[in-house]
Amino acid sequence: MLSHDKIERSVPLLIVLTIFTVAFGGLVEIVPLFFQKSTTTPLNNLVKPYDPVRLAGRDIYIREGCYNCHSQMIRPFRAETERYGHYSVAGEFVYDHPFQWGSKRTGPDLHRVGGRYSDQWHYTHLMNPRDVVPESNMPAYPWLDRPLKEPNIGAKMAALRAVGVPYTDKDIADAPKAVEGKTEIQALIAYLQGMGLALKQTR
Ligand code: HEC
Repeated sequence: MLSHDKIERSVPLLIVLTIFTVAFGGLVEIVPLFFQKSTTTPLNNLVKPYDPVRLAGRDIYIREGCYNCHSQMIRPFRAETERYGHYSVAGEFVYDHPFQWGSKRTGPDLHRVGGRYSDQWHYTHLMNPRDVVPESNMPAYPWLDRPLKEPNIGAKMAALRAVGVPYTDKDIADAPKAVEGKTEIQALIAYLQGMGLALKQTR
């Protein structure tokens, strides 16, 4: 008989059984999500794959570490929905590889920031946050006003297609033209302005 007594007296056995229990629990929780429609289909077919400029902007968001201070995950609590808008649902993130949920909120959640401010506001804010929010402790990103260099945008989209984002051959072929002549800050603002809109359109 495998009694608790035996397990607790043998460190190797305790380790093996602990790992087994945690792994089993994890599988039971995680695996079904891959087959659940609400987590694998885009919300009401309104969530679209990122266009090339937004995709480039998203990469800048990641490169600059914006996720260190901003989450993109509104939880279903009143305090959050009153401040940010409708809570986040899984179908909004199906084309995010990897998602930018984050957990640190030095600044506000950004999941529904799309359309809240003008492009000009974002430009001024990113150049120097203190110009629009005097008490802000967000860093300035003045270097972002430089030409966007995305020689591999097509390859990035092809890679995303390999993990399920439905880009067409034409989308990929046209991508270099779409990002041509843009600046980094324009791409980042385009990304911010698209955030969380699909669900807003349904309410
Ligand atoms: C050190 C932490 C920090 C980092 C890093 C940071 N932010 Fe912020 N952010 C803040 C704080 C604090 C605020 C609230 C004050 C303000 O509006 O400036 C804020 C506000 C914002 C807002 C306005 C949100 C709203 O609803 O009013 C946007 C948009 C934003 N940040 C985008 C970005 C982007 C894009 C990056 C990366 C390029 C970034 N932030 C990096 C701390 C940070």
